[in-house]
Amino acid sequence: MVNSPAAQEHTLDRDCMTLSRHVLQQLQSFSAEAQDLSAIMNRIALAGKLISRRLTRAGLVEGALGFTGDVNVQGESVKKMDVYANDVFISVFKQSGLVCRLASEEMEKPYYIPENCPIGRYTLLYDPIDGSSNVDINLNVGSIFAIRQQEGEDLDGDGKDLLQNGRKQLAAGYVLYGPSTLLVYSIGNGVHSFILDPSLGEFILAEENITIPSHGPVYSVNEGNFWQWDDSIREYTRYVHRHEGYTARYGGALVGDFHRILLQGGVFLYPGTKKKPEGKLRLLYESSPLAFLIEQAGGKASTGMEDILDVVPDKLHARTPLFIGSTEDVQLVESFIQEESRRESEKKAIASS
Ligand code: AHG
Ligand code: MN
Ligand code: MN
Repeated sequence: MVNSPAAQEHTLDRDCMTLSRHVLQQLQSFSAEAQDLSAIMNRIALAGKLISRRLTRAGLVEGALGFTGDVNVQGESVKKMDVYANDVFISVFKQSGLVCRLASEEMEKPYYIPENCPIGRYTLLYDPIDGSSNVDINLNVGSIFAIRQQEGEDLDGDGKDLLQNGRKQLAAGYVLYGPSTLLVYSIGNGVHSFILDPSLGEFILAEENITIPSHGPVYSVNEGNFWQWDDSIREYTRYVHRHEGYTARYGGALVGDFHRILLQGGVFLYPGTKKKPEGKLRLLYESSPLAFLIEQAGGKASTGMEDILDVVPDKLHARTPLFIGSTEDVQLVESFIQEESRRESEKKAIASS
């Protein structure tokens, strides 16, 4: 059957809505900042394509899979794909004239663009491969990013000026390497997703202005940590076990778990544990970018006590507990945490009186 002219026009329109065109349209201007953000998104897309290409063939090429034998600043074993993806972001931005530095999970201190290269006004914060434990078994992984403007001097070269809340982010997003490679981004004007069309080598608009349902059935948490959690999180999980309409999904890669929740609703939880009261996820390049997206999509991101976007980190690699997803589901988790905190303060007050 031949497509009607109207259907054909619609398909062509969609196929022509590339990422860079979309960013320019979002900003509705040809200002310097609009041009910069569009160019930055283009570079991120290039990094996503390079990483996607390597992942697609990872089992076939030498030296793509497995550990390097090193341990990163987080105390975690580094995978070869972590190093590759970290370097990809540096390479695509080094000569771009768009950023002055890049800060990532894999580098103790930010990487400063060398003086013989053009230097820009922005900082890219990123998690080059999120969910690295999935890499060697061909399951989904992602890259997370956020863009901030450099504010003030960074005299010691350790990025102290980055220790500000998440509302300072100009843009944020992720690339999800799954059956398709997908890029989701926001520049503070809704959340939009793009799918990589390998035959064109372009990210093409898939969905504009994604909104998260106010409630969803999924709770996504590593229940293997059950006995490591506070009572409040244990109580919350008992609550969802005892009530109908909940189902568990956990993929071990934040980007994938988050993406499911963004589209279908529910809540992702990474609470603190006895050993790590701050939890596992890093604020500046994991929790904050996703919190930026979820608020733009009408959802909520919380530490249990405050909004993730209000947290000011005390160091570059600071961690926080993360509860993110549908507003009602996040509020339910918060109610358990805040109730326990009230009980604890009452106990202390009684003990000291
Ligand atoms: P990364 O691979 O960047 O270190 O991040 C791993 C994170 C995140 O992707 C995931 O949600 C979480 O670790 C899984 O942790 P557990 O194995 O403790 O559940
Ligand atoms: Mn990660
Ligand atoms: Mn990572």
